[in-house]
Amino acid sequence: MITLNIEKTLGFISKENVQAYENRVKDAMDALENGTGKGNDFLGWLHLPSSITAEHIAELKAAAQTLRENCDVVVVAGIGGSYLGARAVIEALSNSFAWLQEKKDSPVILYAGHNIGEDYLYELTEYLKGKKFGVINISKSGTTTETALAFRLLKKQCEDQRGKDVARKVIVAITDAKKGAARITADKEGYKSFIIPDNVGGRFSVLTPVGLLPIAVAGFDIEKLISGAVSMEKACGKDVPFAENPAAIYAATRNELYKNGKKIEILVNFNPKLHYVSEWWKQLYGESEGKEHKGIFPASVDFTTDLHSMGQWIQEGERTIYETVISVAHANYSLQVPSDGENLDGLNFLAGKHVDEVNKMAELGTQLAHVDGGVPNMRIVIPALNEESIGALLYFFEKACGISGYLLGVNPFNQPGVEAYKKNMFALLDKPGYEEESKAIRARL
Ligand code: PA5
Repeated sequence: MITLNIEKTLGFISKENVQAYENRVKDAMDALENGTGKGNDFLGWLHLPSSITAEHIAELKAAAQTLRENCDVVVVAGIGGSYLGARAVIEALSNSFAWLQEKKDSPVILYAGHNIGEDYLYELTEYLKGKKFGVINISKSGTTTETALAFRLLKKQCEDQRGKDVARKVIVAITDAKKGAARITADKEGYKSFIIPDNVGGRFSVLTPVGLLPIAVAGFDIEKLISGAVSMEKACGKDVPFAENPAAIYAATRNELYKNGKKIEILVNFNPKLHYVSEWWKQLYGESEGKEHKGIFPASVDFTTDLHSMGQWIQEGERTIYETVISVAHANYSLQVPSDGENLDGLNFLAGKHVDEVNKMAELGTQLAHVDGGVPNMRIVIPALNEESIGALLYFFEKACGISGYLLGVNPFNQPGVEAYKKNMFALLDKPGYEEESKAIRARL
C-alpha cells in the first residue's frame, strides 16, 4: 500500500545510525501498545481502524444519506483536528472542478469555523442565501471560539431559511459525549450527534466521525478508507521487524536527520490534490512534537507549482532542511500531450507522452537536484489517489508520529501551547471570568 525509501538521505546520515534506533523504536512502540508512555490517555487512535464496527459505519452512512438527500451544500464547521482530516481526504479524492459543475452527484462541501475572517463569513453566508444547506458542527471541546462563532451564524441562517424542523434534520453535531456548548445545543435542539471518543485527540481523529461523516457526505467510500488504514495498522504493527516497518523507519530517519541539524521537514507533493493532506500532516507533527523548545518544524510545498517560488530557497538556502516526498504512482485518468504540426512551442519532444510521465520526470529531476544541493530526501509512494491509499497514508503518519514524539522525548498527545493565544484573546475581548487577565494585558499595551 505504501513504500518508504530513505536511500537519498544516506549521504547525509548513515544507515547504521538509522538502524541504531531499533531498540528505542521498539521501546516507543511498546509504550504505545502498553499505554506506559506520556499522554497515555490519548491512545484511542492506535487500534481505531480495526475496531470500527459495521454498526458504527451504518450509522454514519445513514446520517450522511440524510444530509445528501436534503442538502445541496454542507458546511463543515471545525478547526484544526476538527476539520483538516476531512478536508485532506475530500480534496485528495474530489474532482478538482466538481464544485463548478451544474449538476452535482454530491453536496458541495464548504468549510467554516477555521478562521475569524469577517469577509470570509460574510461571503459564505451570502453564498448560502437561498440554498438548501446543512451543517456538520465539529468541536471536541465544544467551546472553540472560531467554530462556535461560525456555527452561531450558520445555525440561525439555516433555521431562518429552512425552518426549525428541517434545520434540526440537516444540522449534525460531532462533539464530546457530555460537556461543552456544542453538546448542550445538540441535546437541546435534538440534533443527530456523534461522539468524539475521550481518548482520541483532535489531530488523530480523522477516522472517528470527525472525518468519516463529512467524507461520507462528500460521496466517498469510508469502508475502503478504513480498510486502507487497517492494512497500515498491520504493516506498522509492533511485531513487524524494524527494517520492514515503514512507520518505524520514518520515525527513526527523521529523528536522526534532526540530530544532524536538519530542523525543518518539508512535505512535498507533486499532485495539487494533496495540498490538504500536507496541511493535516503539519498539524499532526507540529502540535505533537513542537514542545519543550524542540521539534522538527513541519513545512510543505506543492510541486511543481512551488518550484517556481520556493525552489530557489530549497536548492540553495540554509542547509537545515530535508524533504519527504509523497509520490502517487499512477494518475487516475489518462491524458497525452498531442503532436502539433507547426511545433511553435517546441514541445513535440513530449508528444505522445502522458502528462503524468512529464510530472514524474520533474519529480525525479527535482529529487536529484535537491540531493545534489544538500537536501536529504525521503520518498513515500502510494499507488493512486483512492480511499484505500489515503486511509493507509493517514494511519502511517499517525503511527510514525506517536513513535517519533516518544523518540524526541515529548508528550506527542497534548497541545498546551495552543491555549496561550486564547487566554489573551479572551482577556482582550472581556470574556466573563477573564477580568484579572484583562487588567494585566491592558497594562502591557
Ligand atoms: O489537535 C487538537 O486537539 C486541536 O488542534 C483541536 O483539533 C482544535 O483546537 C479544535 O478543537 P475542538 O475540536 O475542541 O474545537
